[in-house]
Amino acid sequence: MQGEMEKRGSIGIIWIDNPPVNAISFAVRTGLVDAVYRASMDESIDALVLACRGRTFMAGADISEFASGVEPPHLGDVVDKLAASPKIVVAALFGTAYGGGLEVALGCNYRIALASSKIGLPEVKLGIIPGAQGTQRLPRLTGVEFALKLITSGNPVSASEALAAGAIDRIVEDNVIEAAVEFAEELVLQEAPLRKSHELVIDSSEFDEAYFEAFRTSIARRTRGMDAPECCIQAVKAAVELPFSKGVNRERELSRSCIQNPQSKALQHVFFAERAATKVPGLAKDAQLTPINRVGIIGAGTMGGGIAMNFANVGLPIKILELEQGALDRGLGIIRKNYEASAHKGRISFEMVEQRISLIEGTTNYADLTESDLVIEAVFENMSVKKEVFSKLNSIVRHDTILATNTSYLDINEIASVVKNPGRVLGMHFFSPANVMRLLEIVRAEKTKPEVLATVLKLAKTIKKAGAVAGVCYGFIGNRMLSGYAREAHKLVLEGAKMQQVDRVLFDFGMPMGVIAMADMAGIDIGYRLREQMDESTYDIPSTYVADRLVEMGRYGQKSGGGFYDYSPGNRTPIPAAVSEKLVSEAARKFGIQQREIHDNEIVERCFYAMCNIGFELLDEGMAFRSSDIDTVYINGYGFPAWRGGPMYWAENKVGLDRMLDSIRKFAHQHGDRWWKPSPLLERLVAEKASLRDVQNQ
Ligand code: NAI
Repeated sequence: MQGEMEKRGSIGIIWIDNPPVNAISFAVRTGLVDAVYRASMDESIDALVLACRGRTFMAGADISEFASGVEPPHLGDVVDKLAASPKIVVAALFGTAYGGGLEVALGCNYRIALASSKIGLPEVKLGIIPGAQGTQRLPRLTGVEFALKLITSGNPVSASEALAAGAIDRIVEDNVIEAAVEFAEELVLQEAPLRKSHELVIDSSEFDEAYFEAFRTSIARRTRGMDAPECCIQAVKAAVELPFSKGVNRERELSRSCIQNPQSKALQHVFFAERAATKVPGLAKDAQLTPINRVGIIGAGTMGGGIAMNFANVGLPIKILELEQGALDRGLGIIRKNYEASAHKGRISFEMVEQRISLIEGTTNYADLTESDLVIEAVFENMSVKKEVFSKLNSIVRHDTILATNTSYLDINEIASVVKNPGRVLGMHFFSPANVMRLLEIVRAEKTKPEVLATVLKLAKTIKKAGAVAGVCYGFIGNRMLSGYAREAHKLVLEGAKMQQVDRVLFDFGMPMGVIAMADMAGIDIGYRLREQMDESTYDIPSTYVADRLVEMGRYGQKSGGGFYDYSPGNRTPIPAAVSEKLVSEAARKFGIQQREIHDNEIVERCFYAMCNIGFELLDEGMAFRSSDIDTVYINGYGFPAWRGGPMYWAENKVGLDRMLDSIRKFAHQHGDRWWKPSPLLERLVAEKASLRDVQNQ
């Protein structure tokens, strides 16, 4: 039963027990209301402790109730009841007191927390705002600045930060329930007041319009395109300007408007998509996953070094191999430099730098990798080099050691063919910089065993990556879709759009940067070298003409001071380059392309519909288990705006599958169907009025 009462002397402990995270379900809400009422009638109880069983204090609302609508009592009513308790209530926090869990705690009179616990209001990440008085109570307890930061970022803080800010009153190292009981006894003994957070007064004189405007500007870059952060600011502003009950009404209005905003549905989709992506269809219930304790990495270049940092950051030891000592020293030196740069920025301590580096051991000897549970290869993008590495690994490591390649484009089935037990081979495609980018595209080769995929998906979580599974095909999910997206961007330029217009439209759509500027950042020589190994019939020649000529001139992008755009020294802002414009005119003439004025709308449609059409193809070919995996890839690897739900969600819910199909057919008519052949899956879904949600591959 939720809200079961245990008495310890004159202190009543209200127990919540809703595993695994004590989500605040209907039963928890009713149990709480009932317990507070019973305690108020029980003369043998002087004060209350609100406690949870299991591994955490209430970690938030029960999101599964969102879809069907939350039944009363609403959480705000529960908080009201707690706040109106005639007897002191002490909340005993441990684990993660997030969202509704923290709001419940804020309704209590006092809060005590285990030192290891964290508090946070992550609602904004789901496109909503704390809707159970959190935006009104927190600023009253902590001041406006702390509350604004916590609420608009959605990021948690540690118990000690929460204590310093005044969100909690006391920290203990262990036995938080006992400590909470003692705290309650102390308060009773001292005849402490029923300190009610809603009665605390905020001095509003410092927080005028200019203050909020400055705060808005400070988060503008991070929250671009999103509506919920502004609602968070409005709610906290209400806490400053209005009496509590009016502020609560304002919070409710803002909360309602967020819930109705399509952005919140999109963000909830993203939340569930990430979780769904960790599931492997067809995995036996009793499948044994390999524990990964020792990781080997081959190649200490750009990717190998970044990959090593991911493991060191979570305390896993790594052995990293280069064939020559010089290359190894260079690689290890860069890792050290990266860590030290983080320490100089105050992100980690210098002690942590040493700790992490001590976990990364360099070697030039394959024999040092014999004990590895997993080896990730990140050598040059060359099939024969990779095969040689895998053959060597095959003869050195255990027969069940998982072998992964970080290849971007090569055929992993072919790489796996040199290994005796190919069921353990797969792709682990990290994105650059590998220690920063959240996506881990896990590539399933023909023979990869489901338990190997599941092991690596679990590992992805350990190293704080969003994992998603792709099949073996050109560019897997991410880069294959990128090929269509970039192709249309460049074709639009040949047809008359300016590069900066295309990039501006893509940026305004919500991408972190336009795809042309992105190519300059990544290096346009990469695509050039890739095309050198490709059959010309497999890619679009006009749209790569300008890039190829630029590379031949030594213009590789930012790293060489210019690519599609020019760059001033030390500055990454793209400046239109006369040389590129000249090449564009030359290409248009050469390929007989009529230049015209291009509307912004056409840029959005051509670029993103091309991207999505490939997404439908991938799904149709079984290259993704489910459509939402593609969304996970694009959001975490390419910065597609999460508030749009990912490209596939956007296609279905914003554009509409039928409208997208009509447009793709129109483009096929205008530009030929070589690149604009509608995906058969898209045609089927439209014909059958079916949803992407119904597509589930094995
Ligand atoms: P890189 O050239 O920076 O590093 C490769 C390293 O491997 C070099 O340090 C080289 O000395 C070493 N190496 C070469 N052959 C070796 C061998 N036989 N044994 C041991 N070490 C050897 O290359 P980068 O950029 O790190 O790429 C590595 C792999 O990651 C490639 O397959 C690439 O396609 C892939 N990748 C690269 C991304 C990027 O943005 N750079 C993104 C995602 C994947």
